[in-house]
Amino acid sequence: MSGNIKLQICDSAAAVATAAATAFADLIRTRPDAVIGLATGSTPEATYTEMARMHKDEGLTMAGVTSFNLDEYWGLGGDHEQSYRYFMNDRLFRHVDIHPWNTHVLNGKARFPALECRSFEDRILAAGGVDLWLLGIGGNGHIAFNEPGSSVDSRTRLVSLTQETIDANSDGRFFSDPSEVPRCALSAGIGTIREARALILLATGAKKADAIAAAVEGPFSPDCPSSLLQDHPECTFIIDAAAASMLT
Ligand code: PGA
Repeated sequence: MSGNIKLQICDSAAAVATAAATAFADLIRTRPDAVIGLATGSTPEATYTEMARMHKDEGLTMAGVTSFNLDEYWGLGGDHEQSYRYFMNDRLFRHVDIHPWNTHVLNGKARFPALECRSFEDRILAAGGVDLWLLGIGGNGHIAFNEPGSSVDSRTRLVSLTQETIDANSDGRFFSDPSEVPRCALSAGIGTIREARALILLATGAKKADAIAAAVEGPFSPDCPSSLLQDHPECTFIIDAAAASMLT
Protein backbone atom coordinates (compact mmCIF):
# COMPACT_ATOMS: atom_id res chain seq x y z
CA MET A 1 0.00 0.00 0.00
CA SER A 2 1.27 3.48 -0.69
CA GLY A 3 -1.84 5.35 0.36
CA ASN A 4 -1.85 9.10 0.00
CA ILE A 5 1.68 9.84 1.16
CA LYS A 6 3.36 12.30 -1.19
CA LEU A 7 7.10 11.92 -1.69
CA GLN A 8 9.55 14.74 -2.22
CA ILE A 9 12.98 13.26 -2.80
CA CYS A 10 15.83 15.76 -2.52
CA ASP A 11 19.46 15.58 -3.61
CA SER A 12 20.89 16.28 -0.17
CA ALA A 13 20.06 16.69 3.50
CA ALA A 14 20.54 20.44 3.03
CA ALA A 15 17.88 20.45 0.32
CA VAL A 16 15.52 18.57 2.66
CA ALA A 17 15.97 21.32 5.25
CA THR A 18 15.38 24.09 2.71
CA ALA A 19 12.23 22.42 1.41
CA ALA A 20 10.82 21.91 4.90
CA ALA A 21 11.66 25.43 6.09
CA THR A 22 10.12 26.85 2.92
CA ALA A 23 6.89 24.93 3.52
CA PHE A 24 6.63 26.39 7.04
CA ALA A 25 7.56 29.87 5.86
CA ASP A 26 4.94 29.76 3.09
CA LEU A 27 2.29 28.74 5.62
CA ILE A 28 3.31 31.44 8.11
CA ARG A 29 3.41 34.15 5.44
CA THR A 30 -0.07 33.15 4.28
CA ARG A 31 -1.40 32.71 7.78
CA PRO A 32 0.57 34.75 10.34
CA ASP A 33 -1.38 33.16 13.22
CA ALA A 34 -0.64 29.62 12.05
CA VAL A 35 -0.54 26.75 14.55
CA ILE A 36 2.50 24.63 13.83
CA GLY A 37 3.73 21.35 15.21
CA LEU A 38 7.43 20.78 15.76
CA ALA A 39 9.79 17.87 16.33
CA THR A 40 13.18 17.34 17.93
CA GLY A 41 16.11 15.06 17.03
CA SER A 42 19.04 15.51 14.65
CA THR A 43 17.02 15.57 11.45
CA PRO A 44 15.06 18.83 11.93
CA GLU A 45 18.04 20.82 13.25
CA ALA A 46 19.00 22.13 9.80
CA THR A 47 15.37 23.06 9.11
CA TYR A 48 15.35 25.22 12.25
CA THR A 49 18.67 26.81 11.25
CA GLU A 50 17.09 27.71 7.92
CA MET A 51 13.93 29.11 9.55
CA ALA A 52 16.12 31.24 11.82
CA ARG A 53 18.00 32.49 8.76
CA MET A 54 14.71 33.33 7.04
CA HIS A 55 13.72 35.33 10.11
CA LYS A 56 17.03 37.22 10.15
CA ASP A 57 17.55 37.76 6.42
CA GLU A 58 14.07 37.68 4.91
CA GLY A 59 11.90 39.17 7.63
CA LEU A 60 9.94 35.98 8.30
CA THR A 61 7.99 36.80 11.44
CA MET A 62 6.66 34.19 13.83
CA ALA A 63 5.20 36.74 16.25
CA GLY A 64 1.66 35.43 15.70
CA VAL A 65 2.53 31.73 15.54
CA THR A 66 1.62 29.11 18.14
CA SER A 67 3.67 25.90 18.34
CA PHE A 68 3.20 22.46 19.84
CA ASN A 69 6.02 19.95 20.20
CA LEU A 70 5.60 16.23 19.76
CA ASP A 71 7.15 14.94 22.96
CA GLU A 72 9.34 15.36 26.02
CA TYR A 73 11.43 13.04 28.17
CA TRP A 74 9.68 12.11 31.39
CA GLY A 75 11.63 13.36 34.40
CA LEU A 76 13.63 16.09 32.63
CA GLY A 77 12.89 19.75 33.34
CA GLY A 78 13.19 22.39 30.65
CA ASP A 79 16.56 23.54 32.04
CA HIS A 80 18.11 20.08 31.42
CA GLU A 81 20.30 20.26 28.31
CA GLN A 82 18.84 17.04 26.91
CA SER A 83 15.22 18.06 27.43
CA TYR A 84 13.27 18.83 24.33
CA ARG A 85 12.19 22.19 25.79
CA TYR A 86 15.87 23.12 26.03
CA PHE A 87 16.48 21.83 22.48
CA MET A 88 13.67 23.94 21.03
CA ASN A 89 14.73 27.09 22.86
CA ASP A 90 18.32 26.54 21.78
CA ARG A 91 17.77 25.54 18.11
CA LEU A 92 14.80 27.69 17.14
CA PHE A 93 12.80 29.74 19.61
CA ARG A 94 15.55 32.09 20.80
CA HIS A 95 16.52 32.82 17.18
CA VAL A 96 13.07 33.95 16.04
CA ASP A 97 10.33 36.23 17.36
CA ILE A 98 7.83 33.57 18.49
CA HIS A 99 6.42 34.47 21.92
CA PRO A 100 7.64 32.00 24.55
CA TRP A 101 4.13 31.70 25.98
CA ASN A 102 2.89 30.53 22.57
CA THR A 103 5.34 27.60 22.53
CA HIS A 104 3.89 24.43 24.01
CA VAL A 105 6.28 21.66 25.00
CA LEU A 106 5.00 18.96 27.35
CA ASN A 107 6.32 19.37 30.90
CA GLY A 108 8.51 16.36 31.68
CA LYS A 109 8.35 17.18 35.38
CA ALA A 110 4.59 17.62 35.62
CA ARG A 111 3.27 16.28 38.89
CA PHE A 112 0.38 14.49 37.23
CA PRO A 113 1.30 13.21 33.75
CA ALA A 114 -2.26 12.37 32.74
CA LEU A 115 -3.37 15.91 33.55
CA GLU A 116 -0.43 17.38 31.65
CA CYS A 117 -1.31 15.26 28.61
CA ARG A 118 -4.98 16.22 28.80
CA SER A 119 -4.04 19.88 29.08
CA PHE A 120 -1.77 19.57 26.02
CA GLU A 121 -4.65 18.13 23.97
CA ASP A 122 -6.99 20.84 25.29
CA ARG A 123 -4.52 23.56 24.31
CA ILE A 124 -4.32 22.16 20.76
CA LEU A 125 -8.11 22.21 20.53
CA ALA A 126 -8.30 25.73 21.97
CA ALA A 127 -5.78 26.90 19.37
CA GLY A 128 -8.02 25.52 16.61
CA GLY A 129 -5.92 22.44 15.80
CA VAL A 130 -2.51 22.17 14.18
CA ASP A 131 -2.15 23.44 10.59
CA LEU A 132 1.15 21.73 9.78
CA TRP A 133 3.12 19.33 11.97
CA LEU A 134 6.76 18.43 11.36
CA LEU A 135 7.77 14.85 12.11
CA GLY A 136 10.91 12.74 12.19
CA ILE A 137 10.98 8.96 11.97
CA GLY A 138 12.82 6.40 14.07
CA GLY A 139 14.77 3.51 12.58
CA ASN A 140 11.95 1.31 13.92
CA GLY A 141 9.31 3.45 12.20
CA HIS A 142 8.25 5.36 15.30
CA ILE A 143 6.79 8.87 15.12
CA ALA A 144 7.23 11.03 18.21
CA PHE A 145 7.66 8.37 20.92
CA ASN A 146 4.89 6.19 19.50
CA GLU A 147 6.81 2.97 19.36
CA PRO A 148 5.71 -0.11 17.35
CA GLY A 149 2.39 -1.37 18.73
CA SER A 150 0.96 2.12 19.30
CA SER A 151 -2.63 2.33 18.15
CA VAL A 152 -3.90 4.54 15.36
CA ASP A 153 -6.15 6.45 17.74
CA SER A 154 -3.68 6.84 20.62
CA ARG A 155 -3.69 10.19 22.41
CA THR A 156 -1.04 12.16 24.29
CA ARG A 157 0.20 9.94 27.11
CA LEU A 158 3.09 8.63 29.17
CA VAL A 159 4.93 5.96 27.15
CA SER A 160 7.93 3.66 27.55
CA LEU A 161 10.85 3.92 25.15
CA THR A 162 12.09 0.80 23.38
CA GLN A 163 15.72 -0.29 23.84
CA GLU A 164 16.31 0.54 20.16
CA THR A 165 15.23 4.14 20.72
CA ILE A 166 17.27 4.42 23.92
CA ASP A 167 20.33 3.15 22.04
CA ALA A 168 19.70 5.47 19.06
CA ASN A 169 19.55 8.49 21.38
CA SER A 170 22.72 7.60 23.27
CA ASP A 171 25.12 7.34 20.34
CA GLY A 172 26.91 10.52 21.41
CA ARG A 173 24.69 12.99 19.51
CA PHE A 174 22.55 13.55 22.59
CA PHE A 175 23.20 11.28 25.57
CA SER A 176 26.60 9.60 25.74
CA ASP A 177 25.47 6.46 27.54
CA PRO A 178 22.20 4.45 27.44
CA SER A 179 21.96 4.59 31.25
CA GLU A 180 21.47 8.38 31.02
CA VAL A 181 18.44 8.18 28.71
CA PRO A 182 15.06 8.45 30.46
CA ARG A 183 13.01 5.26 30.08
CA CYS A 184 9.74 7.08 29.59
CA ALA A 185 8.40 10.12 27.80
CA LEU A 186 5.25 12.13 27.32
CA SER A 187 4.25 11.83 23.68
CA ALA A 188 1.51 13.13 21.44
CA GLY A 189 -0.43 10.09 20.24
CA ILE A 190 -0.83 8.91 16.68
CA GLY A 191 -4.46 10.02 16.81
CA THR A 192 -3.31 13.45 18.00
CA ILE A 193 -0.80 13.73 15.15
CA ARG A 194 -3.24 12.48 12.51
CA GLU A 195 -5.62 15.33 13.38
CA ALA A 196 -3.15 17.92 12.07
CA ARG A 197 -4.42 19.38 8.81
CA ALA A 198 -1.07 18.68 7.12
CA LEU A 199 2.02 16.69 7.99
CA ILE A 200 5.63 16.81 6.81
CA LEU A 201 7.90 13.93 7.76
CA LEU A 202 11.65 14.34 7.29
CA ALA A 203 14.22 11.59 6.87
CA THR A 204 17.84 11.69 5.79
CA GLY A 205 20.46 8.97 5.49
CA ALA A 206 20.50 5.25 4.75
CA LYS A 207 19.74 4.40 8.38
CA LYS A 208 16.16 5.53 7.74
CA ALA A 209 15.71 3.73 4.40
CA ASP A 210 14.02 0.58 5.76
CA ALA A 211 11.66 2.59 7.95
CA ILE A 212 10.70 4.84 5.02
CA ALA A 213 10.00 1.84 2.80
CA ALA A 214 7.87 0.22 5.51
CA ALA A 215 5.99 3.47 6.16
CA VAL A 216 5.23 4.18 2.50
CA GLU A 217 4.98 0.73 0.93
CA GLY A 218 4.32 -1.63 3.83
CA PRO A 219 0.97 -2.51 5.36
CA PHE A 220 -1.06 0.06 7.33
CA SER A 221 -0.08 -1.36 10.70
CA PRO A 222 0.88 -0.37 14.25
CA ASP A 223 3.99 -2.52 13.68
CA CYS A 224 5.32 0.51 11.80
CA PRO A 225 3.68 3.54 13.44
CA SER A 226 4.55 5.88 10.56
CA SER A 227 2.58 3.64 8.16
CA LEU A 228 -0.49 4.88 10.05
CA LEU A 229 -0.10 8.15 8.13
CA GLN A 230 -0.89 6.43 4.81
CA ASP A 231 -4.54 7.50 4.82
CA HIS A 232 -3.84 11.10 5.89
CA PRO A 233 -5.14 13.46 3.20
CA GLU A 234 -2.17 15.86 3.31
CA CYS A 235 1.03 14.08 4.30
CA THR A 236 4.36 14.68 2.55
CA PHE A 237 7.60 12.84 3.23
CA ILE A 238 10.57 15.08 2.38
CA ILE A 239 13.57 12.76 2.25
CA ASP A 240 17.00 12.53 0.72
CA ALA A 241 18.10 9.94 -1.84
CA ALA A 242 19.73 7.72 0.79
CA ALA A 243 16.53 7.54 2.86
CA ALA A 244 14.61 6.78 -0.37
CA SER A 245 16.96 3.99 -1.43
CA MET A 246 14.77 1.06 -0.30
CA LEU A 247 11.62 2.30 -2.01
CA THR A 248 10.62 0.19 -4.99
P1 PGA B 1 16.59 11.70 14.55
O1 PGA B 1 15.33 11.13 15.33
O2 PGA B 1 16.11 12.89 13.76
O3 PGA B 1 17.52 12.12 15.64
O4 PGA B 1 17.10 10.61 13.69
C1 PGA B 1 14.11 10.98 14.67
C2 PGA B 1 13.15 10.22 15.54
O5 PGA B 1 13.56 9.32 16.29
O6 PGA B 1 11.95 10.50 15.45
